[in-house]
Amino acid sequence: MAKDKITVVGAGNVGATAAHIAATRRLGQIVLLDIVEGLAQGKALDMAEASGLYGSEQCILGTTDWAAADGSDVVIVTSGVPRKPGMSRDDLLATNTRIVKSVSEQIVTHCPNAFVIVVCNPLDAMVHAVARTTGFPSQRIVGMAGALDSARFRYFLACELDVCVDDIQCVLMGGHGDDMVPLPRFTSISGVPISQFLSDAKIAELVGRTRNGGIEVVNLLGYSAYYAPAAGAVKMAEAVLRDTRGIYSCSAYCRDEYRVSGYFVGVPAVLGRHGVERIVELDLDDSEKRQFAESLSHVKELVAAVDRIL
Ligand code: LAC
Repeated sequence: MAKDKITVVGAGNVGATAAHIAATRRLGQIVLLDIVEGLAQGKALDMAEASGLYGSEQCILGTTDWAAADGSDVVIVTSGVPRKPGMSRDDLLATNTRIVKSVSEQIVTHCPNAFVIVVCNPLDAMVHAVARTTGFPSQRIVGMAGALDSARFRYFLACELDVCVDDIQCVLMGGHGDDMVPLPRFTSISGVPISQFLSDAKIAELVGRTRNGGIEVVNLLGYSAYYAPAAGAVKMAEAVLRDTRGIYSCSAYCRDEYRVSGYFVGVPAVLGRHGVERIVELDLDDSEKRQFAESLSHVKELVAAVDRIL
């Protein structure tokens, strides 16, 4: 059987790390693309040379040539500028809309059947830009943010309670911004609600840290996070390629779910062979609905700004 093919667009920190994780997970053959001559080639060669040491994928190609991406099953879009200290994700909108538009045009030409995972910011608006430019069925386009944000929340909880992070399940909704909506009511440790373990004040503190998870890393490094974002993207690629049908918080297209009509925004969704197999509708309480509506209104503003550029 032919191997699956994964193209990662952008060989910066997130892209190169995603390619590396995909290689160690042996998800299939990997193409790493970048416009900077030598960058993708050098990183891909370095990764391929490591294949004999850990049994990782040896078929990793770095290139500037989109033809190498022909027929990809999954495309992970990481290209775009990342934020620096003092910048919000929204500050990247104009530059990244133009970059994402030109990447999307190449995807249409070279990978017309691919499932597309968008990672660049401002996330939900960039997913919209990909959808509008490619015209692909919305089931085949998602944004990776919820997987990252919920991984952060799970990690903070695991540290606080000194339990295994694998045993923590959580759902997070809304746009990938400061007003994202972690949902403590739908967060549990091996099925036991976290309210059994932690006070409301402690939960609120960890929710706050999750909302600021991206900027916490930016302030330490001087540029944005990449290990966890890359891992989130690869996890979603794996769900599709291996048809795991796991539930992930991701920026998915809502037709009328959660009373959202026609926007990509963070919701829990089942991922499988066909991409977004379905969106899971939770029974939100009034406060959760209000927070989600607020976050959605911010996403709508960003989408309107993208539409003015496209
Ligand atoms: C973050 C960036 C990738 O949250 O949005 O770290």
